[in-house]
Amino acid sequence: MSLFLLTGIATLDIVNTVDHYPAEDEELRASASRHSPGGNALNAARILAGLGHRTELLAHLADDPGGKHILATLDADGIDHAHCPCASGTTPTSYITLNAINGSRTIVHYRELPELSSHHFKALPIERFDWLHFEGRNVPETNNMLRHARGRLLDQPISIEIEKPRPGLDQLFPQADVLIFSRAYALALGHTCASELLTALRPLAPRAALVCAWGEDGAWALAADRRAPAEAIHASAVRSGPVVDTLGAGDAFNAGLIEALATGSTLDEALRRAVTLAGRKVTGQGFSHLADGARA
Ligand code: FRU
Repeated sequence: MSLFLLTGIATLDIVNTVDHYPAEDEELRASASRHSPGGNALNAARILAGLGHRTELLAHLADDPGGKHILATLDADGIDHAHCPCASGTTPTSYITLNAINGSRTIVHYRELPELSSHHFKALPIERFDWLHFEGRNVPETNNMLRHARGRLLDQPISIEIEKPRPGLDQLFPQADVLIFSRAYALALGHTCASELLTALRPLAPRAALVCAWGEDGAWALAADRRAPAEAIHASAVRSGPVVDTLGAGDAFNAGLIEALATGSTLDEALRRAVTLAGRKVTGQGFSHLADGARA
């Protein structure tokens, strides 16, 4: 069992399942609707907690019904949220259309709550964590958090998820031990495959393991160790059943990767663990089917 800190966002996800993807200006009825907490850091915390790890979430919460729903879920899952700032305002909300045909999730996100700031992070006793994971957002504040962490930590690893291009994001890269890039990020930078992205970014983060998931094509990683082969390693995607819900598949990938690395796996093994967990995630709604002891 490890102790993970997940720093990022907490959202309210309103997920409507539809029997086909709507055309513009179409009106259709959802076959199911659910409200559940979301956000990459929060989702990863829930998955890790379900796998039996101790987790703390650091995210900005609002004091509205959405915020209360999030807190109740964190409590039910045993996720520590003692250092989450809570402001008056509205919980960031994602309006999600889940296509029952192929499990695709289209997300329209709205937020007006302030981003987390580094003074919230500095209030945390970070030395006690085994692993610190960050979402790559709000570059100036995240940079301050990372510098603070680097000044305090002995050898606890830091991972950063790089999901969307944002100005100055590459300033964060040198502070990470593990950088997890999305396919969307690679494509936005003009790369047509994961290994090309990882090779191109290697000089910006010489000491980090670089990882990029590419959906049904699997995932690639480049080891930090200069003595290791400069070729990216690959893990094929794992399909363990029909795809019903891809919402949070990336978060399951991240949770699988950092869990495996934190518990002593090699990068190769961790990449396989990540694609396996992401492959299981898409076969069910939410995350409870990923929990230890749950049916695969
Ligand atoms: C899924 C997710 C959702 C959330 C959105 C935020 O990865 O974290 O739960 O609404 O992405 O970008």
